[in-house]
Amino acid sequence: MNDVKSHETDVLIIGSGAAGLSLALCLANKAKVIVLSKAQISAGSTNYAQGGIAAVYNTADDHDSVEEHIEDTKIAGAGLCDPVAVEFTLCNAHDSIQWLIEQGVPFDKREDEIVEEQSPYHLHREGGHSHRRIFHAADHTGHTIQETLDQKVLNNPNITMLTNYNAIDVVTTKKLGLAGNRVVGAYVFNATTHQVETIKAKFVALCTGGASKVYQYTCNPEISSGDGIAIAWRAGCRVANMEFNQFHPTTLYNQNDRNFLLTEALRGEGALLKRPDGTRFMPDYDERGELAPRDVVARAIDHEMKKLGVDCMYLDISHKTPEFIKKHFPTIYERCLQVGIDITKQPIPIVPAAHFTCGGIMIDRRGRTDVESLYAIGEVSYSGLHGANRLASNSLLECIVYGQQAAKDILARLPLAIETPEIPDWDESLVTDADEEVIIQHNWHELRLTMWDYVGIVRTDKRLERAMHRIKLLKKEVSEFYSNFRVTSNLLELRNLLQVAELIVRSAMARKDSVGLHYNLDHLNQPTNPKPTILSPTDRDFD
Ligand code: FAD
Ligand code: SIN
Repeated sequence: MNDVKSHETDVLIIGSGAAGLSLALCLANKAKVIVLSKAQISAGSTNYAQGGIAAVYNTADDHDSVEEHIEDTKIAGAGLCDPVAVEFTLCNAHDSIQWLIEQGVPFDKREDEIVEEQSPYHLHREGGHSHRRIFHAADHTGHTIQETLDQKVLNNPNITMLTNYNAIDVVTTKKLGLAGNRVVGAYVFNATTHQVETIKAKFVALCTGGASKVYQYTCNPEISSGDGIAIAWRAGCRVANMEFNQFHPTTLYNQNDRNFLLTEALRGEGALLKRPDGTRFMPDYDERGELAPRDVVARAIDHEMKKLGVDCMYLDISHKTPEFIKKHFPTIYERCLQVGIDITKQPIPIVPAAHFTCGGIMIDRRGRTDVESLYAIGEVSYSGLHGANRLASNSLLECIVYGQQAAKDILARLPLAIETPEIPDWDESLVTDADEEVIIQHNWHELRLTMWDYVGIVRTDKRLERAMHRIKLLKKEVSEFYSNFRVTSNLLELRNLLQVAELIVRSAMARKDSVGLHYNLDHLNQPTNPKPTILSPTDRDFD
């Protein structure tokens, strides 16, 4: 094993989305950084974000205020947002937008006349927002941000970008039998050579995105398998609010292109939700109609589909002019046209799909986790911002705000960092190559279907019990597989997804009410003073 590579750096960042890259860029003048992605650099959700990034940049824009952004976030969060985290994040929103503009992100500008000291930017509106405050680049904001940050990172001599590297686990002093529980690096699977390498680091940041791939239907990319949450849990970190997985109300329903996202900005610009007979239904559910928060809209769609026994509902923007639609939503227009739907003329068939993990690894305002020198930023984390339901376009913002805060904290601590101990080579002496890949594939499908059917938009106690039963059996099988065979990317992801699924179901079982995204027919009572669900790996009912 002497020819297996080992690396050393000041800061190891696992993940190259908005969170990982903003952290890397804020560190790179003063620290050596390695950034890891388990696929290509732009494989994360960031690259797929459409609507944009929410911020009150200038109070003359639509007569908005930070206070109203705070209020909208708390209302969407259904009483479970941490007020300090909300205020902290949204007060930093202006500076985050400014930083992105300075990196070169070309947000769309207004074309009409600017009055009353307004900023030059064109702003979208989305569900749950009382004002237009979404900075965007047409309907491909995430791609534009990712592309801009990719170039900056790839041209920075202090940042080494390693693609097709899958982080298996972080290494801590505790795991090495040394004092304390400080992170000292990670074991990473090089998917090109199929070898496990070591990376020694003074600080490690988990920026691995969400876990929506635990569900059968998701608009997330392949990488969203909750790796960071599972890695942090195994290292000793607490997690919170894992029961709150957000389902986006409108993804494309089509055999050839299932679950492509149809941005909420469509509804912000007047698109209407309709039944197959063309009648609207949202006014029957909420006075805010199509612009009610996502949990309300997704549940209404789910309810209508079940009531009518149909496979989809419809989203209609065809009353707007073709010029308007093509200018504001070019990606969606083209993508739908490819599957035979002309959105300027006809309604779009839609279904909800798993979209965003509101819970995650518990962090403080600096992005620190429970493990010394280990940080978590972005969708992988629980900062307290999103509560029981994330407000649209607050996620990219969280990535940038916390990326910047963690960088400040790490740079302040770097000169005082203790020497990191050596990390032993990965031991493969007791394992062989897997003989039956079919077990992985089967368990993979079974898990995702179980989560979709039993732990989806509407839950019951019985469904949650069934899900937990299946997850425990699958976990046992996969853990045996992991002990006996060499790791592969699929095995690593399945192991992590199972861990995350267990955390989601446990959190859902612990909540005896219905709030935000968690809706249990056996506990329809609304909590008067809801509290986050916090799970700790030291609670020893976990096996
Ligand atoms: P990601 O961008 O998901 O990046 C994760 C990174 O971690 C990737 O580089 C991946 O390769 C890497 N990784 C994962 N596991 C490992 C591992 N084990 N080893 C090595 N690397 C690993 N939010 C908004 O605010 N506005 C929007 O308009 C919006 N639209 C969206 C549209 C879609 C279709 C989707 C899916 C999400 C949208 N969101 C939106 C949510 C938002 O895009 C994400 O929450 C955000 O981009 C997450 O960024 P991140 O940096 O935390 O993770
Ligand atoms: C969308 O564009 O509808 C997604 C926005 C988000 O998830 O914040």
